[in-house]
Amino acid sequence: MSSPDWRAIEALRAPRLERLFADDPARVAKFSVDIAGLHFDWSKTHLTGDAIAAFESLAKAQDLSGKREALFRGEPINATEGRAAEHTAERGEGSEDSVARAGMLHARMRALIDAIEAEALGPIAHILHIGIGGSALGPDLLIDALGRDEDRYEVAIVSNVDGCAMEEAFARFDPTATLLVIASKTFTTTETLLNATSALEWMREGGVEDAYGRVVALTADPDKAVEWGVDETRILPFAESVGGRYSLWSSIGFPAALALGWEAFEELLEGAGEMDRHFRLAAAHENAPVLAAFADLFYTQVKGAQTRAVFAYDERLRLLPSYLQQLEMESNGKSVGADGTPVGRATAPVTWGGVGTDAQHAVFQLLHQGTHLIPVEFVAVVEPGDALADDHHEQLLLNCFAQGAALMKGRANDADPARAYAGDRPSATILIEVLDPRALGALIAFYEHRTFVNAVLLGINPFDQFGVELGKEMAKAAGQGGLDFDPSTTDLIKRALG
Ligand code: F6P
Repeated sequence: MSSPDWRAIEALRAPRLERLFADDPARVAKFSVDIAGLHFDWSKTHLTGDAIAAFESLAKAQDLSGKREALFRGEPINATEGRAAEHTAERGEGSEDSVARAGMLHARMRALIDAIEAEALGPIAHILHIGIGGSALGPDLLIDALGRDEDRYEVAIVSNVDGCAMEEAFARFDPTATLLVIASKTFTTTETLLNATSALEWMREGGVEDAYGRVVALTADPDKAVEWGVDETRILPFAESVGGRYSLWSSIGFPAALALGWEAFEELLEGAGEMDRHFRLAAAHENAPVLAAFADLFYTQVKGAQTRAVFAYDERLRLLPSYLQQLEMESNGKSVGADGTPVGRATAPVTWGGVGTDAQHAVFQLLHQGTHLIPVEFVAVVEPGDALADDHHEQLLLNCFAQGAALMKGRANDADPARAYAGDRPSATILIEVLDPRALGALIAFYEHRTFVNAVLLGINPFDQFGVELGKEMAKAAGQGGLDFDPSTTDLIKRALG
């Protein structure tokens, strides 16, 4: 049964968006936040003063400020795994001990980068980074977003155990000039270890005598990396209390720091730190992650939205939706609360999205005229990333803004319903002044904190991920022939694998 705070939220009613704007000339300013070179405009959502007040009351009841402090203080808020969640310490915001430890590990990372740049491991032109989930998505996003004009190293990030993915990298790279980076928090992930074994083999076959001498391991379990054969001097550890999907700030960011340069990596951390301080100190109605989480919950709890869509109107951010899928769905795709009892309400919506303007010609039909209510988020950059004539970027941005306006305004057409647009469809926009490491750091930290606020208000633990275990175990057991599958699965295995 809902608490009085949830009942007040469930009872919220919001007029049409256009009415909200007509009634309040200051609406844009009221529902916008500027921080760290990012402009967050949540005015085209149905948030109202009443909604904010109702969510603030829920936040109080759920002790959001206490839990936020516990996060920053490094208390063991990940109760099911009995540990803290200390990704903010990586960017200098956390307990003194954790910040000092993160600083020490960063110094070690930097020293190895300096050594590689000085060719201590021989001449390196290619970085083959092997990892999956949180050990791949973050570095991939960073390098794709910020590394387009960099020619220091060519980087391939391989995650899938499908050999086609490895073969693609092998075809591009020279094994004698490749640094093999194995990223795995646990150093037990079967896909990663199999891919790494194949990569070593490829290096040996390609004439590298001491292939292990070109291996760097990024992990929270250095002993396992040593057991696997990696030399201790090339293991970059990070704290167990940094979750996989929150780990790009730690040594998992190594390929990005190497490819983009140490200075860029530091700026990334600083940008995230600025967002941390904003999240920690700003009042709820001026706090970007908190405001965004209130809107998220408004749509899932009041309006029954089951998905939310993120469209990057910038080619450099094309990997953002996949990054967010892991962050949001692995964190908050839960059915039981932190106390183990059923949550009893919808938790994380499905996060999906794509790149504008491509997506306009593929999926926006449903956004404008479909039957699902889908809160949309646009992410755009003011400063162009390209050097082509201005009209490319202008077209891109105008398309982005026009989509938000069209979703909200709609267009009646009684004579021809197929050409009618209901309108009143919500969107939020994040406008980045310049896409540099600082801004990207702040953007990612914003998403992390928003995910955390959603979790706290729903009463769930965003830092475990037991949902991924069952399938892994069954695949392992199947490989060892030790599992009786259902008839359909048995038949599929027989057909495909004999
Ligand atoms: O299977 C899920 C998961 O544990 C993610 O949480 C994690 O990011 C990914 O696998 C990779 O794990 P690891 O870094 O330990 O190889």
